[in-house]
Amino acid sequence: MIKHLNHYSKIKKNLLSWYDSNTYNFPWRGSVNPYNIYVSEVMLQQTQVVTARAYYLNWLKSFPTISDVAKASLQQVLKHWEGLGYYSRARNFHKSCKIISQQYNQTIPNNFDEFIKLPGVGAYTAGAVLSISYNNILPAVDSNAVRVVSRLEMNNISYPKNIKSISRSIMKYICPKRPGDFNQAIMDLGREICKSKNPNCTICPISSYCKSYINNVVYKYP
Ligand code: ADE
Repeated sequence: MIKHLNHYSKIKKNLLSWYDSNTYNFPWRGSVNPYNIYVSEVMLQQTQVVTARAYYLNWLKSFPTISDVAKASLQQVLKHWEGLGYYSRARNFHKSCKIISQQYNQTIPNNFDEFIKLPGVGAYTAGAVLSISYNNILPAVDSNAVRVVSRLEMNNISYPKNIKSISRSIMKYICPKRPGDFNQAIMDLGREICKSKNPNCTICPISSYCKSYINNVVYKYP
């Protein structure tokens, strides 16, 4: 039987095949432990993947579980964050782990509205952690995702002002069976191929669906 895929399905399919053939071997890939993913996503918010890698591994050695973070002093927590910058991330993470330990039975709530109430948790972190760990169909919109979608749709949106419109777009493409992989595929594509300078469109798995590429105006977006 010949399957006729629609536009969104083709994009989803190409993106996920590309993702599957490019396992960027990050230590957090392959884990669906919500705490591990939470650690990695907080680190990755303002830190490059290459730098985050060593910090992530070291962090999990010292604090293998949420209750290890909750029991630690702020000083110990900050010591492990030393060099990563944006220390409010570590302070908030510490507070949040204490709340999860005391009020949520040491389990990250599998609920966007609950999770987002915790210190330092925004729509990005909640979307990333809940899609990767619990398979929730939620977008994770970082600056890479904004660039990919704005080029794909020739939609000149500003970040972070128009997160809502990007989120709606991502919900059209997202793979309901693999929402976490889909979100990570978009972020990988933005980081490795759909770069802000010198994007590598000739090897992009979705260039044939990319409106700005087809119209030769990639450089204008976002
Ligand atoms: N940037 C932030 N989180 C990421 C993830 N899980 N995969 C790829 N890039 C990211």
